[in-house]
Amino acid sequence: MGVLYHGADYNPDQWLTRPEILEQDIDFMKKAGVNCVSLGIFAWATLEPSEGNYNLDWMEEIIDKLWAAGVHIDLATPSGARPAWMAEKYPEVRRVNADRIRQLFGERHNHCYTSPVYREKVCAINQMLASRFGRHPAVIMWHISNEYGGECHCELCQKAFRKWLKEKYGTIDAVNKAWNAKFWSHEYRDFDQIESPAPHGEHSVHGLKLDWKRFVSYQTIDFMKWERDCIREIVPEAKVCVNMMYHYDGIDYFEQAKDIDLASWDSYPTWHKPGEPLWETALDTALMHDLYYSVKKQPFWLMESTPSYTNWQRVSKPKRPGVQLLTSLQAIAHGSDSVMYFQWRQSQGASEKFHGAVVSHDCREDNRVFRETCDVGAALKAMAEVAGTGKEKQAAIVMDWSNKWALEDSQGPRNIGMGFWQEMQRHYNGLAQNGVSIDFVHPQEALDGYKLVVCPLVYMMSEEFTLRLREYVKNGGTLVVTYWSGVVNETDLVWLYDSPHNLTDVLGVRRLEVDGMFDGEKRACRAVCAGLPETAQGSVLCEVAALEGATPLMVYDEEFYAGAPAVSVNEFGEGKAYYVATRFEKDFYKALYKTVGEGVLESVYPYETEEGVLATRRGEYVFLQNFNDHPAKAGEWTLEKYQTLVLKQTQDGYEKVF
Ligand code: GLA
Ligand code: ZN
Repeated sequence: MGVLYHGADYNPDQWLTRPEILEQDIDFMKKAGVNCVSLGIFAWATLEPSEGNYNLDWMEEIIDKLWAAGVHIDLATPSGARPAWMAEKYPEVRRVNADRIRQLFGERHNHCYTSPVYREKVCAINQMLASRFGRHPAVIMWHISNEYGGECHCELCQKAFRKWLKEKYGTIDAVNKAWNAKFWSHEYRDFDQIESPAPHGEHSVHGLKLDWKRFVSYQTIDFMKWERDCIREIVPEAKVCVNMMYHYDGIDYFEQAKDIDLASWDSYPTWHKPGEPLWETALDTALMHDLYYSVKKQPFWLMESTPSYTNWQRVSKPKRPGVQLLTSLQAIAHGSDSVMYFQWRQSQGASEKFHGAVVSHDCREDNRVFRETCDVGAALKAMAEVAGTGKEKQAAIVMDWSNKWALEDSQGPRNIGMGFWQEMQRHYNGLAQNGVSIDFVHPQEALDGYKLVVCPLVYMMSEEFTLRLREYVKNGGTLVVTYWSGVVNETDLVWLYDSPHNLTDVLGVRRLEVDGMFDGEKRACRAVCAGLPETAQGSVLCEVAALEGATPLMVYDEEFYAGAPAVSVNEFGEGKAYYVATRFEKDFYKALYKTVGEGVLESVYPYETEEGVLATRRGEYVFLQNFNDHPAKAGEWTLEKYQTLVLKQTQDGYEKVF
């Protein structure tokens, strides 16, 4: 029988002088069905109050008590925040900003990942923890650091960057060529002349900026591997995870996922946003759940979420009654094997004192948040059999951090923003509203098994990737490619000749021009086929393409490009390739993917469902969730407001699990 984990970030180092609080914690954890906590994430100053003087006894006592109460430990390395003594004695551990100013002590997540001193100190504390607790039966996972991110421009990092470039390119001439450095005479004669991008230095060579981002991601992952390997020197079988973030741009999470055992993420949607139905916020969250399932193509953990308020948002809103259960189970529906919160108990002071937590300042078990957390605990227990089940391959959306970096850094065609995530979200929602299972794939991943591959704003395409897309369609796959795709190669040099590169015959169109649109500017389009909305509005970029064999489905209806394809389809080999020349309004995509999916995609729950009811599937389990604040129908079922129904598919229908 599987286990779904339920718990929180647990920071008892804030309460060591209050034994009655620690006692209540254990009692309340039992009541809430807690079976796992992430322990000691920011506890370094308590674990090592002065250099080399370790104090781990308190942690041992707590681990033993937790284990006696049936609580597993996701043991944290404390490298997310360093003690003051270290920042004072070893300035090199403190990050240097892009303007080359070194930070003072304070805050968190701001260390130099290259600094040998920092690495040595981190290794020492990690090994102390590993020797002492690494084989404790309660410890099932290591929470490596916390939300890795940011970048450092110190001299040590500059040297590491140059070394990385040398390994990548071999010669300085190869660097100049890759970056088109002849432009403005920005050629380098020696690797030592290269500096990271700076506001008072180089910030116009896109190849340099792109490689800097890749290096920062590489160096962060290298640091993570260092932490992991220090632990594994003591406990070779130690399992590790990291917690990833919403829309985070600084790390290529596909790369990072290769070096961990479990992916997890911290989810803080703005539920109850005025003017946005809950189901729409839910789809935004669902995209991230599916992304973090996809980085390893295996179940992930919801590492953090709030049971009530998120105090760093513009306005803090408590989740409405029932919404904690609904949104927690949404993570499970998308492939999480846990529901964890930040944090277990509200802090008494400092910046997160008004952040929601399982135990509120009133320390009462009749508190609504606590009671609803108990409901989640009971629900997870009741549906534990879904743990470990995976998702079916249907549609794949291409996601590549390098592409995003290059796309957003480019000057033109739209410096007011390309809206990368908005574009992704439209395709995601269109598929999700048709009940399709969605994965994200990196361009280097195999596409086999997917019925549909979507390339939204895949501006950067390597030769190799374009050739694989050709093969994919030729062999019967269905492909959707949007405007501004296949424009540059992997070092951001524009592909010469016909574009989208290597895909003009696959798509049956050839890019001619791109009309950048101001915010709010719209371009009328009309359908020339059945199934798509009769009229729609293009925005953001209106790409103008020549039809070279494709059949238009929508055309522009105004401007000098009236009649040019806004959506088209082309048969190529055994497959089909769709081209979407602009960004349409949100509603358009449900219809688009109904058309694209006809005879190609299967719905996870092929029955009529009301708007606001979202269906997903893991293994043989179908989750139906009603994000409406009123009852709604899904097939033969009527769901109460905010209800989740978990069904198991059997030979003769569905059996209710929850
Ligand atoms: C992040 C951090 C936590 C906490 C929460 C608050 O996810 O990892 O330490 O600050 O945000 O929302
Ligand atoms: Zn540095």
